[in-house]
Amino acid sequence: MAARWSEAELPLFKQRRINDPVAALRLLAGEARGCTRCDLYKHATQTVFGEGPADASLMLVGEQPGDQEDVQGRPFVGPAGRVLDKALEAANIDRDEVYVTNAVKHFKNEPRGKRRIHKKPDTSEIDACHWWLENEFDVLHPRIVVALGATAARAVMGKPMTIGANRGRLLALTGESEALITVHPSYLLRLREERDKRREFDLLVKDLRLAADAAK
Ligand code: URA
Repeated sequence: MAARWSEAELPLFKQRRINDPVAALRLLAGEARGCTRCDLYKHATQTVFGEGPADASLMLVGEQPGDQEDVQGRPFVGPAGRVLDKALEAANIDRDEVYVTNAVKHFKNEPRGKRRIHKKPDTSEIDACHWWLENEFDVLHPRIVVALGATAARAVMGKPMTIGANRGRLLALTGESEALITVHPSYLLRLREERDKRREFDLLVKDLRLAADAAK
């Protein structure tokens, strides 16, 4: 997940050699508030940075904040977040012990009447935002990174990944860290048939359990 940056491009916690993960994460989140690395900040309410303990061994990466996350300033608090919460509960994972973040930290949207329609981030936006993800990773050194959906998988693995062919198994990352790719919770919201929803929910729970067990 790591790239090479010059000293001036390093986040403050690296420039100041701050080793306390809590302080480093706080500093990083503060810097992210003013992020203009791509144009998405222009149409978003605020940066939605990751949240969770700085010593979490399990890190979940989503795509980008949605409408409610953009307003509340917290990841996964809208409809997809409710699916994620149910899946975490079914997998016996305490969300408070997990670090939850997104590949892209601003809500990409298109105004349509009174509504703001979600738009998928493009490669240049994912790449621009990778700097934050990489630095979150460098603070936490999580044992397992779960990529929720294709955008997160691309950001975490650094290349396009097919979910179907790669989900549900541990993939080498850097050092002790491994990744696990699974579906994005919003995929379940788009399914029409109840039995499809149930099947996909069970598969998501299975993937999360595998990740949590490996992170222990
Ligand atoms: N979808 C995401 O990928 N992340 C969020 O925070 C909310 C919805």
